[in-house]
Amino acid sequence: MLNDEQLAKLRKAGEVSAAARDLGISLCKPGAKLLDIAQEVEGYIRDHGCGVAFPCNLSINEVAAHYTPTPNDQTRLEIGDVIKVDCGAVLDGYIGDTAATVEVATNAYRDLVEASKRARNTVAEFVGEGTPIREIGRAIEMSIKRDGYNVVENLCGHQIDYWDLHAGYSIPPYDAGDETVIQAGQTFAVEPFATNGKGYVDNGKPGNIVIKVRDKPVSDPELKDFIAFIDQEFKGLPFCARSCDRSRGDWQLGDSVDPEKCVKKLVRMGILSSFAQLVEVPGSIVTQHEYTFYAIGKRAEVTTLP
Ligand code: CO
Repeated sequence: MLNDEQLAKLRKAGEVSAAARDLGISLCKPGAKLLDIAQEVEGYIRDHGCGVAFPCNLSINEVAAHYTPTPNDQTRLEIGDVIKVDCGAVLDGYIGDTAATVEVATNAYRDLVEASKRARNTVAEFVGEGTPIREIGRAIEMSIKRDGYNVVENLCGHQIDYWDLHAGYSIPPYDAGDETVIQAGQTFAVEPFATNGKGYVDNGKPGNIVIKVRDKPVSDPELKDFIAFIDQEFKGLPFCARSCDRSRGDWQLGDSVDPEKCVKKLVRMGILSSFAQLVEVPGSIVTQHEYTFYAIGKRAEVTTLP
């Protein structure tokens, strides 16, 4: 269980995540640059006393997740794009993780956008202490199937822990028979994805998001500095080259350090691991809605309302 002070931090991180998500959604207009949207969302999180728990994911149409703009990204939204904004704030290790979907200036996929939202909201109606994981999955699948779409079966909700975005159990969007029950005091995210595609994502191109996976001695002083920086700044959470702004944090990167180059080198050395974009079949559309919950009592509290 969290004490009052810890719970206040979890709630603040949730509130800031939710407001950042809604800001991001409001910026998804025809011609908007993905880079600007991501910077605005992450800037909002930092301006409100939190850290960025992971780079703002801006995934379009058949890309379900794990795309964040590069530092020089020129991609712009087009009329009819369906974009997922998935973002998170961290306050002293307590994390909010939330997502929503919007269709840019058209209404062709309104029902599909609603399908993932309805599934998430259905779960919010009953989930709490003692809910078996399989019940959550069953509710998601029933809701999305009833709306005439497929769940993306290999994208799951997840437990969240202190400085740990994907901890403990995962919550598949179907009944996988998992009798594990939600325990009092746990934080977890429910994030149904709905699609008119096959219901399964494959790994695509790198989506510019990385995470530190191992410690290894390095001799290059620049890389050494860079590793010290990411350890202090991200504490094992996912990040991207864009997040390594030398003007931020207590510790400053030397002028000669190029974050994009360092990230590439460390991926090659196996110190960082790069996330692939998660992609449905070409021409399909994927939608996503996500809340973070804190399990206390029969009905868990949504920390990322509205
Ligand atoms: Co999540």
